[in-house]
Amino acid sequence: MSGFPQLRLRRLRRSEALRSLIRETEVNVGDLIYPLFVVEGNKMKQEISSMPGLYRLSSDLLSGEVEEIASLGIPAIILFGIPQKKDEVGSSAYHPKGVVQQAIRAIKKATPELLVITDVCLCEYTSHGHCGVVVDGYVDNDKTLELLAKTALSHTEASADMVAPSDMMDGRVKAIRQALDGNGFQNIPILAYAAKYASAFYGPFREAAESAPQFGDRRSYQMDPPNWREALREVEQDIAEGADIVMVKPALPYLDVIRKVRDTFNYPLAAYSVSGEYAMIKAAAQQNWLDERGVVLEMLTAIKRAGADIIISYYAKEAARWL
Ligand code: PBG
Repeated sequence: MSGFPQLRLRRLRRSEALRSLIRETEVNVGDLIYPLFVVEGNKMKQEISSMPGLYRLSSDLLSGEVEEIASLGIPAIILFGIPQKKDEVGSSAYHPKGVVQQAIRAIKKATPELLVITDVCLCEYTSHGHCGVVVDGYVDNDKTLELLAKTALSHTEASADMVAPSDMMDGRVKAIRQALDGNGFQNIPILAYAAKYASAFYGPFREAAESAPQFGDRRSYQMDPPNWREALREVEQDIAEGADIVMVKPALPYLDVIRKVRDTFNYPLAAYSVSGEYAMIKAAAQQNWLDERGVVLEMLTAIKRAGADIIISYYAKEAARWL
């Protein structure tokens, strides 16, 4: 007996109860991380025009926001800082009273149980908008490592629970691990943006974080979108250097890469559904061109089905209400 009419795959789709029994993938609120943008100053709440519904907040306004996030059951946030002062070497990124360092303290006071992950990168802090130190028009890898390690350490000293380097320099996971271990932070995990592509989908984020490169682009350090084998090498390298969780970014246009990484490595895997993914759906939903709830939940499920354990999403709060 092998086939129609004895075999009918529709038998198990007849009711929600049946579908629920055989469902292979489920998104849980506990899988989600919500990104937050923080600015210096007081009483600042600026809507990001290309990401409707998302705001840049000053530290004094964070407590209400994080209490809401925690009450929705979302376990973690990832923090991005927009400093007032930028310079060639991104000094505000590792200043003990920098915008992120202050925000971490405010969040930990309001919601101690909410995990605070920090994005570790220099692009929001450098005057040229690149993710590292520029020497003769080229982002110098090794000079950047020391500054990234300093940044990660200062976040941790301000009581961040996890650090997430997103710069794509070679050797940064190792440099950060050494800096943390050398200062008594052996228990702070590193979430490495391991396979991060030079993607046009980051457009709205760069408006939000004021981090667009002032010359050139990021293609000499972020990955070339056509490559998946290289993604496995990036992940392999970050694991060898001490990453605890690895990430693929963006998510939706790179589901194949997520699947490959999942099949190749037994490490927790995160996927970052980036600003452009959010903006596309939001814009279409505002025109009533698609059903926002349906599309978002289908997209998050697809990212999990591809193999991600963790999803960073600007839709995390809405998804938590819908799930
Ligand atoms: C910082 C960083 C970026 C994103 C996360 N961390 C921007 C970039 O690499 O230009 C993008 C996130 C998004 O688009 O949502 N390097």
